[in-house]
Amino acid sequence: MRVLAVGNRLAARAERAGTFGGSRRRACIGIRLNGLLHGRRGAANGDFHWLDLDPGDFQSISQTVLAHSAISGNVEAELASAQDSGCGCGYPDYIDDAVVERSNQIMTMLQATAGRFPDLVARLGGLPRYLTASVAGQRVGIVHGDPESLAGWGLALEAMEPGDPVLRRQLGWSGQPTTPTMVREWLERAGVSVLACTHTGLPFAQDFLVAGDRRLVINNGAAGLGNFAGTTYGVATRLSSDPRAPADGIYGITIGTLRCDAVPVRFDPAEWRERFLTQWPPGSPGHRGYLARIERGTPLRPEQAARGNLRLANRVPR
Ligand SMILES: [Fe+2]
Repeated sequence: MRVLAVGNRLAARAERAGTFGGSRRRACIGIRLNGLLHGRRGAANGDFHWLDLDPGDFQSISQTVLAHSAISGNVEAELASAQDSGCGCGYPDYIDDAVVERSNQIMTMLQATAGRFPDLVARLGGLPRYLTASVAGQRVGIVHGDPESLAGWGLALEAMEPGDPVLRRQLGWSGQPTTPTMVREWLERAGVSVLACTHTGLPFAQDFLVAGDRRLVINNGAAGLGNFAGTTYGVATRLSSDPRAPADGIYGITIGTLRCDAVPVRFDPAEWRERFLTQWPPGSPGHRGYLARIERGTPLRPEQAARGNLRLANRVPR
């Protein structure tokens, strides 16, 4: 079993940081993230090039991400790979074959754009698969999928126990659940208080007690797509030494000295939709897969994402 190692690949000693994997979006997302971070350390935890068919977007998002700390997602790993092995998403069996096929088609089209930037692709392919950072004195592990695999689904919301029967039914979920025992072992073996991930597309956070210490798994869903029902904003993970919940927080918790929150990544949804349609017109795999999510988010409600002792904000951003 491969487990997140305990090496400190990111020499960060930060008071505030954020992770924003699954950006799946365009240049102005990068600019917004720079605004969101303003002076904080940022860590992009992969798949930031999903849907970046436009060469200008591909280039500018690469430059934004590479200006921060970053790890590779399966998208960047596949873009840098000489082999044609689809999107590398590692989809579990319950994901519909049509979704798998669509993602493979998107990856083939992204390869054509990426081929114009061999130097950037080489740099992206050379990114580490995980990072650890010390934020407000707490050790944070940053992965893309789960601690065992770059494209692992062990930290998908639908896999987490106790299971959410509504969500599992909506997704047609089946398979091995991720038990608290498994998560505790990951946290313990990695020696981290917080495990921040993305990849599986739906955000959530859940706390666990490990030898009497509260620890956290937090998945930011997607920073560049709508995540919750009826919303269009992306979600990033904010980590801060400031114990106060941010004014725009969606849900959060304090882990030792570290405040951890899901925060919205705002962008102009009309502009994004227009740019998306330019790159992914009706009939294209991107359009079939993502337009509805861009316009209306997902069926997920924020209260389903705030698990365990996570506190939902009094006024959840709309
Ligand atoms: Fe991924």
